[in-house]
Amino acid sequence: MEKDIAKILISEDEIRSRVRDMGKQITADYQGSSLIMVGILRGAVLFFGDLAKEIKVPLSMDFMAVSSYGDSTKTSGVVRIIHDLHQNIEGKDVLIVEDIIDTGLTLHYLIENLRSRNPKSIKTCCLLDKPSRRRANVTPDYVGFEVPDEFVVGYGLDYKELYRNLPYIGVLKPDIYAK
Ligand code: IMP
Ligand code: MG
Repeated sequence: MEKDIAKILISEDEIRSRVRDMGKQITADYQGSSLIMVGILRGAVLFFGDLAKEIKVPLSMDFMAVSSYGDSTKTSGVVRIIHDLHQNIEGKDVLIVEDIIDTGLTLHYLIENLRSRNPKSIKTCCLLDKPSRRRANVTPDYVGFEVPDEFVVGYGLDYKELYRNLPYIGVLKPDIYAK
């Protein structure tokens, strides 16, 4: 697995320290209220768990799964809900937690979809941001790191469902896609 990685972009230590800071920021912003953290399966799971431990206000956890890339590295632009929330979010403060915002089509769809359920507020939190590829007009409220236009894996992010368990964010060797 490690031999498929061309370079490490963001180390385990850098992730840990940035996630801690994001948790502090979110704790400060939601002081006196509670929130529903909505994790987007499956890429956000590692980030979601680590971030939740750094947020010190009452919260509940829920999850959604949407189809985005399938098995390819190119987005289809078509977003479909595969697993929906268990909770009713009406009147609640919702924080969407995503692994990466790339074209923004996924997050745009999710925001519009959840907004129609009349929450009190919706904010978005992405570990990674690839701003150069944006197609939808979405800016996340919280971003961990900006990344260049390279396909990244690790810490929840996959290529063909592999590499999610790497503890860092890395760039795959190009010959891996060519296979
Ligand atoms: P968007 O709709 O183009 O913003 O795509 C968002 C989704 O695409 C993310 O939730 C990821 O699952 C996936 N994605 C985008 N870029 C990458 C990448 O570099 N590595 C792994 N997954 C990615
Ligand atoms: Mg994802």
